[in-house]
Amino acid sequence: MHASLSFDQAPPISVPYRFFIAAPWFGVMAGLLLALSGDAALASRWTPEALALTHLVGVGFMLQAMCGALFQFIPVAVGGNVWSPKLVANTVQPMLLLATLLLVAGLLFSRPVLLSFAVPLFLLSLGGFVVVVALALWQTPATGMTLWSMRMAIGALAVTVLLGSLLAEALAHGLALPIIDLTNVHLAWGLGAWALMLLAGVSYHVVPMFQLTRPYPLWFTHWFGPVLLLLVIAWSSRLLLDEAWWTLAIALPLLTILSVYAGMTLWLQYTRRRKVHDATSIYFRVAMLAMLAFAVSGAVFLSYPEFGNDPRATVWLGVLAFAGVFVSAITGMMYKIAPFLNWLHLQRLGAPMNAVPNMKKMIPAEAMTGQLRLHVLAVLLLLAAVWQPGLARLAGIAFAASCAWLGWNLIGAARRYRSFRDQIREVVLRC
Ligand code: HEM
Repeated sequence: MHASLSFDQAPPISVPYRFFIAAPWFGVMAGLLLALSGDAALASRWTPEALALTHLVGVGFMLQAMCGALFQFIPVAVGGNVWSPKLVANTVQPMLLLATLLLVAGLLFSRPVLLSFAVPLFLLSLGGFVVVVALALWQTPATGMTLWSMRMAIGALAVTVLLGSLLAEALAHGLALPIIDLTNVHLAWGLGAWALMLLAGVSYHVVPMFQLTRPYPLWFTHWFGPVLLLLVIAWSSRLLLDEAWWTLAIALPLLTILSVYAGMTLWLQYTRRRKVHDATSIYFRVAMLAMLAFAVSGAVFLSYPEFGNDPRATVWLGVLAFAGVFVSAITGMMYKIAPFLNWLHLQRLGAPMNAVPNMKKMIPAEAMTGQLRLHVLAVLLLLAAVWQPGLARLAGIAFAASCAWLGWNLIGAARRYRSFRDQIREVVLRC
């Protein structure tokens, strides 16, 4: 099952875990913020609450989880050697946590000084992370499109953070910059070239392995990442050429390749020989359905400006992208990675193989399925709340509860690791 993985260079278990355990609590904060703010929060993408929610999920939840996954994935799946992972994680994570809270508070309370404090922390923490990860990705002898997607994604993270920092400084100091266009370019790098690129690159590797599907076709893995990057670069030219026809000429192919990726993943799941209906597979299916819904809605909004010009249209797209696609796919992935981490580190303790508990014992299946159901309910409520603002508080509570449940499941996995580790050490001592 894990034939193409190399475990020798895996970082200490605390490295990925510390990011995974922190991530869901930003989702809890996002849900609580929505529950407290109520209907006003989702009135448009520019409300202070919407901007704060965007970064609680985009930086707090997604980026934390993705950094943790990269620390694990680079050595194990593409044979890269991340320099001093424990030192880097111990330095980067606290700075990133503080920077995220400052950014969110600055956006929420419209306090420029907080934005100014957040910027150097982001530049230092993510700058350091990008350098270390990029070195590992460029020095590995491995080949393949997963590796290339990760290289493109890490470059895009650097661009996202630089643009975000520029925006924050522009807001803090009242710089005369085209804020709306710059924000649209920043979000394309953040959601497209960083988050989606990484998700796609990792899924070429883990969907066939964990969900027992056929591999993605080579033609698809070869063109998806480069075309996505080219389209995001073309989208960035809107800073110079802000014409409606140009926006359409880039947005339509972008929505088309999203649909192809989502349709391809669903097709691979549908045609696999062994049907596994675990939380990871279902989470991935939810994410891909949300991506298709995003593409169809985007096309409708572009074709019928009477819908597209409604300020709630972009909020609808934001809910589909953040909660529907990324939170779902990342959660599904964490439910596979955390039990695997436990198993990997336990079997290295030197006990006989039959003393190492099965991966299924790391997080109870019912806990994952229950949390998945609550997450799907929360996403549906969030989508409904965009058009029925009276539902916003309920949607916020449901989202907070589902993220808290996820956080609890991951803490449980870490605690089970500790207790199994202690049991195995006793067995080893007695042998
Ligand atoms: C790395 C992941 C990130 C993602 C996915 C992301 C995503 C986004 C999105 C989607 C928006 C548009 C929000 C809306 O339309 O409601 C936005 C705006 C913004 N982002 Fe980020 N962002 C990220 C990182 C950052 C960082 C690190 C900073 C600061 C250093 C930052 C600062 C900003 C600012 C200042 C705005 C514009 C606020 C305004 O125009 O009022 N972002 N971001």
